[in-house]
Amino acid sequence: MIKAITGTKDILPPEMPKWKILESIVNDVFTGFNYKEIRTPIFEETSLFARGIGEETDIVGKEMYTFIDRSQTSLTLKPEMTASVVRAFNEHSLGKQQPLNKLFYISPMFRQERPQAGRQRQFHQFGGEAIGSASPLLDAELIIIAYDILKLLGLKDLTVKINSLGIPASRENYKKLLKDYLKDSKHLLSEDSRKRFDQNILRVFDSKVESDQEILKNSPLMIDYIDDESKNDFGVVKTILTNSKIPFEVDAKLVRGLDYYTKTTFEIVSGKVGSQSALCGGGRYDLLVEQLGGAPTPGVGFAAGMERILLACENENSLNLPKEEIDLYIIKLDKELSSKVFELSLSFRKNNLIVDFDYLDRSVKAQMREANKLNSRFVLFIGGDEYKSEKLNLKNMSTGEQQLIELNDYHRVIEIIKK
Ligand code: HAM
Repeated sequence: MIKAITGTKDILPPEMPKWKILESIVNDVFTGFNYKEIRTPIFEETSLFARGIGEETDIVGKEMYTFIDRSQTSLTLKPEMTASVVRAFNEHSLGKQQPLNKLFYISPMFRQERPQAGRQRQFHQFGGEAIGSASPLLDAELIIIAYDILKLLGLKDLTVKINSLGIPASRENYKKLLKDYLKDSKHLLSEDSRKRFDQNILRVFDSKVESDQEILKNSPLMIDYIDDESKNDFGVVKTILTNSKIPFEVDAKLVRGLDYYTKTTFEIVSGKVGSQSALCGGGRYDLLVEQLGGAPTPGVGFAAGMERILLACENENSLNLPKEEIDLYIIKLDKELSSKVFELSLSFRKNNLIVDFDYLDRSVKAQMREANKLNSRFVLFIGGDEYKSEKLNLKNMSTGEQQLIELNDYHRVIEIIKK
């Protein structure tokens, strides 16, 4: 038997209600802040991600699904959306149509990571990107949107972490300081951290190795060396979050794994999902649009992992899932009435009722069992002596009450069910 690829998962019908709830909350919250939905292709030219996310990052260096197609073009299944959204922004000159574009998305993403709870190779993200303004109001707005969505899902065990990475010039100065601080103990760092020391020194902070963290304990912190503008914008973000009653902590070691960030960055983590605790992450990327060939245009955004969020909801038992039910199940007492039942079901379905019946010529008892299994609110019996006298029998399954209705008066059935 052929099975799904490691790290991918089928979402089967019983799981759909929670996905629907999440998607509708995402839709409603973003729409309330006047973000418009955008969809981009599943694959892009590989160079988009290499240039956008950064050659030295884990995503580009180790995790992308890259392949050469039949025309010898190198393509990559999208590992994240920001580069794709910026590519679309540039390609369609969205900045010329309006100065600020507020966009949101829901989409599958692909990264070849080691699968574990909350980490898959095909996973889903929702996210938002505001492109065209450097105002820190938008940084705060996006944090508030992410937090609102998680709160509306009933999640409680949340921590908002924020940091500022400054502009590249201040960051370069800081990297030198960090290098100076670490160089004497470089040989004591883990192998991964030694590699990061050479390639992308800020990522040393992401190390989970305790002895690395011990060495970093008294390191200089970037937040103390950022430029005045970044400092000022960070202050505005903190004030808005405080005024909006969003609890947050400044995490000076939050560096994020993608190269495009400038100024404010943030993550929201859950205490209820184990080691893969980041439910969402984002920040400002004021140089990315230009880096990908567009006019200099600032931007800010975040993305959230939907599998992780649903795992947190499950672990916190936070979702109130509606009982699945249908409006009507039609039971035929005589097999030869199949086409009459089909015809009737179409009339009911046209009137927005959720209707089903038996397609397998099962016994009346089996049809009744099916109606119960589907939590049908009403059952309509058709056939037998009642049919000969041109009547249908409608049963309300919660009260047990039954009524005879003229065969041609299906409107009466609809009226009763909709009451
Ligand atoms: P990211 O931190 O790489 O950022 O991913 C955002 C979120 O996607 C993570 O916090 C996590 O919840 C989820 N995620 C990432 N990898 C996996 C995986 N393998 N399995 C399950 N969930 C995963 C970005 O993607 C940026 N594009 C965010 C952004 C938007 N920054 C600015 N705009």
